[in-house]
Amino acid sequence: MESEQGDLKNALERLADNPAPRAAVIGWPVEHSRSPLIHTSWLKRYGLNGSYDRLAVPIDKAEETFRNFPETRLIGANVTIPFKEVAFQACDVVDEIGKTLKAVNTVWLENGQLHGTNTDMYGFLANLDDQSPGWDERKRHAVIIGAGGAARACVYGMIQRGFQIVSVINRTLERGEELSADFGDSVKAFGFEDLALRLKNADILVNTTSLGMHGQPPLQVPLTSAPGHMVVCDIVYVPLKTPLLRDARMQGFRTVDGLGMLLHQAVPGFELWYGVRPQVDTRLRGLVLKDLGLKS
Ligand code: ATR
Repeated sequence: MESEQGDLKNALERLADNPAPRAAVIGWPVEHSRSPLIHTSWLKRYGLNGSYDRLAVPIDKAEETFRNFPETRLIGANVTIPFKEVAFQACDVVDEIGKTLKAVNTVWLENGQLHGTNTDMYGFLANLDDQSPGWDERKRHAVIIGAGGAARACVYGMIQRGFQIVSVINRTLERGEELSADFGDSVKAFGFEDLALRLKNADILVNTTSLGMHGQPPLQVPLTSAPGHMVVCDIVYVPLKTPLLRDARMQGFRTVDGLGMLLHQAVPGFELWYGVRPQVDTRLRGLVLKDLGLKS
């Protein structure tokens, strides 16, 4: 938090020299990204003189782009797939969260150096706090399905909130074990055959895989094994109500959809680049839902 405030102070000093900061989302491809919609909506709402664009960078030019970032004439950027690891390697300074997640999704220039962080964990936790206040009252056991980059952010979030045990369920056990090895004894890896047993005393279940996404098979979860107080969160947001969330809702569990993670993860970057901490509210959510062609 202290470092976030330090970053903000520096951002405000930079703004004094740069009255119309330019930021962008960098990826390949970037057409699908909703970040320009989110950031330009905030720029307009707060009456700020800045801009936010898309910057499509071919794979073989990515590292060079981050290493020579001042040449882009951007004050900072969001980094999307497939460059989060490249940006992590290329930044001059990466904070503790970026180092833990081994991936960077937000960069900014400071004294000519490229700084990087990862706001996925912040977005994940802020979304849960927003949609299901008190979700972390019981901190005994979290069950996370998947072992990719998104799972890493969620696992770290659970540790930050003081969960005693985090079970990682993954199709490829070795990948789950690799993830758990990075986080110490409280994180343990299992295959899907252990899911029902792990759910027996789970306080929260999170899907971080693409299962349940439009065009993908649904994720099968034996929800009847779980206690009634368990919160069910899906980071997939197309569709907004995934088959997992529908089932969970029907069985009386509290549910949290994934759209808020996308919205909240954008907050720290906007504050760093433009100097105002923006609000995630129903208006922004409605705007992005409409753009995605989704029903609330
Ligand atoms: P991200 O970085 O966005 O989290 P990723 O690194 O591609 O994406 O990870 C995707 C996750 O979804 C992985 O845990 C993957 O399981 P494997 O490690 O076994 O590949 C999981 N996943 C994807 N498709 C799946 C499927 N059909 N069944 C089960 N798990 C699946």
